Amino acid sequence: MTDINNAKTNIETTGFLDIDVDINIDLFAEIENLKKKKNAIILAHYYQEPDIQDVADFIGDSLGLAQQAEKTQADIIVFAGVHFMAETAKILNPTKKVLLPDLKAGCSLSDSAPPALFKIFKEKHPDHLVITYINCSAGMKALSDIICTSSNAEKIIESLPKKQKIIFAPDKNLGAYLNKKTGRNMVLWNGACMVHEIFSLEKILRLKIRHPQAQVIAHPECEDAVLAVADYIGSTTGLLKYSQQSSSQEFIVVTETGILHQMQKESPYKTFIPAPPNNSCACNDCPHMKLNTLEKLYLCMEYEQPEIIMEENLRIAAKKPIERMLEISKKYGL
Ligand code: 13P
Ligand code: SF4
Repeated sequence: MTDINNAKTNIETTGFLDIDVDINIDLFAEIENLKKKKNAIILAHYYQEPDIQDVADFIGDSLGLAQQAEKTQADIIVFAGVHFMAETAKILNPTKKVLLPDLKAGCSLSDSAPPALFKIFKEKHPDHLVITYINCSAGMKALSDIICTSSNAEKIIESLPKKQKIIFAPDKNLGAYLNKKTGRNMVLWNGACMVHEIFSLEKILRLKIRHPQAQVIAHPECEDAVLAVADYIGSTTGLLKYSQQSSSQEFIVVTETGILHQMQKESPYKTFIPAPPNNSCACNDCPHMKLNTLEKLYLCMEYEQPEIIMEENLRIAAKKPIERMLEISKKYGL
């Protein structure tokens, strides 16, 4: 068994505290104790595993999580999500200790936009304003004018004059969807999410034949052909609300499978069918989100590591466009 000092030293390589957890421990009870003892709050994204969602104080989409992170009075923010989300929490609330159960919980979409390359791209479009999806690094945020999420992107774009030229990064699928919705012609960075690009249109259409009453509900990170067959398109919170409010009893859910836990909890008598990927893998599970486990969550709360540390100049530069997003969202009651 690895001892705690070795585990702390190795965290750069492992991404998490690699220590065995006593099998007899009630992790749910221990995590509750640690929350009280340390004045800690657990913020979890809908794509986290069900056990993590069940111990969280707040479960939400990227916008909801950022808003909670900004206003919390807790001393420690335990972020059960991916790195860019925890980083956003630190940017907004720097005096808090922000913990991420596994530092290697990254994001393929964020990785598809390296700041150094984006800077060159941006320089080629000097008269454009940069709207960047929150799924990106702090370095990318620092190069942006306004950040957006899938729940406020449309409103943010529409808050700008029609003739304003815009670069949208990093998600080309979300960007194309927004171009259609708003009638703009934003220049798109060529990035994508590995999970939302894997869904099979053919398999979704086959499912529709077997479940003719089912509504297809999809996240806007999906490809255009998939979105074209959706009855509703929205952020994870949007999808959850729609599934609650719709009179439909059956849904084919085209996003990461973690969201099904809350959908089923909120509407126990409705049927939720995860949309299948285009091969036999479990690729509709985000491998990054699923790096966090209940054991890693417990260990990071007990030993207060891994922690998000940021260089202050970068934090300040990245904060500006997030604040613009939060101001516009507030104006629209989002
Ligand atoms: P939202 O939860 O904001 O809809 O984003 C989905 C996502 O891909 C997060 O990584
Ligand atoms: Fe990133 Fe896609 Fe995973 Fe969301 S689902 S964290 S966009 S890789």
